[in-house]
Amino acid sequence: MDWGIQNRLAGILRPQTGRCVMLAIDHGYFQGPTTGLERPGEVVAPLLPYADALMLTRGVLRACIDPACRTPIVLRVSGGTSVLKDDLSDEDLTVSIEDAIRLNASCVTLSIFVGSAHEKTTLTNLAKLCDEGQRHGIPVLAVTAVGKDMVRDARYLGLACRIAAELGAHVVKTYYCDGFEKIVNGCPVPIVIAGGKKIEERDALKLAYNAVSSGAVGVDMGRNIFQSQWPVEMIRAVRAIVQDKLTDAQAWEQFQQETKGRAAARPTGRRPSDVGCGMADVNRSDTPLPTSHFRHPP
Ligand code: R5P
Repeated sequence: MDWGIQNRLAGILRPQTGRCVMLAIDHGYFQGPTTGLERPGEVVAPLLPYADALMLTRGVLRACIDPACRTPIVLRVSGGTSVLKDDLSDEDLTVSIEDAIRLNASCVTLSIFVGSAHEKTTLTNLAKLCDEGQRHGIPVLAVTAVGKDMVRDARYLGLACRIAAELGAHVVKTYYCDGFEKIVNGCPVPIVIAGGKKIEERDALKLAYNAVSSGAVGVDMGRNIFQSQWPVEMIRAVRAIVQDKLTDAQAWEQFQQETKGRAAARPTGRRPSDVGCGMADVNRSDTPLPTSHFRHPP
């Protein structure tokens, strides 16, 4: 691997542990002002000290993040769809490699949609991005997006992760599931897990612990941090699991101690079913913008 790619990866996967707490705030690229992320700059500022990397779009980076920020940037460079359409798989590359370099990105990221109508386009997008990344020394993170009719099991996710690695991705992001070890075993590059839709904090910590215990090198977590009533304490607890190797029970104890008697940073908690983001989640009937509402205007 080229020195530049290794150097940038070492900024994301902490060299002392080989692990990473990545904070994902790219949800707006197809979902608009996601709950909890309406004002990304204000949300992210207190969380950055606990994040090894920040995943976001160039628009939010330029508009909301202090250029003095030293946190490595994982720049989303795919898009072209919105929650108003049934098929979210129809993505293209949306950012040139020159602009990624201009933004000092440590990594570029895109989604692949294995098994979808646009499987081939998204996979060739990945291959092209890996060529560009290789040319300029920038690693590529492939996100295995999951369609609404697809099952998030080890067979499917293992297939998607392996294909991403075969096409040149340096890191893969996927979902945790039963049999996760099989996915890790069949994927020759590091894997981080998405947090998925908001669940109870105790359960999200268990998810993070299970993932790293099964071979993930960390998390790329969004809603389970920024939609928590205690986002700072939540990312600190996740970090304790990923980087300090606490168990989920120990991290939960830490979270409870730190939130005890403290007012919540967010005034109301999110119900777990309130909002989605992952490709499967956005097609749920309880998402804020049901597509059918817009396909048949009065
Ligand atoms: C989804 O396409 C985005 O890339 C999100 O970054 C991803 O879903 C991770 O965020 P969360 O933990 O909220 O699932």
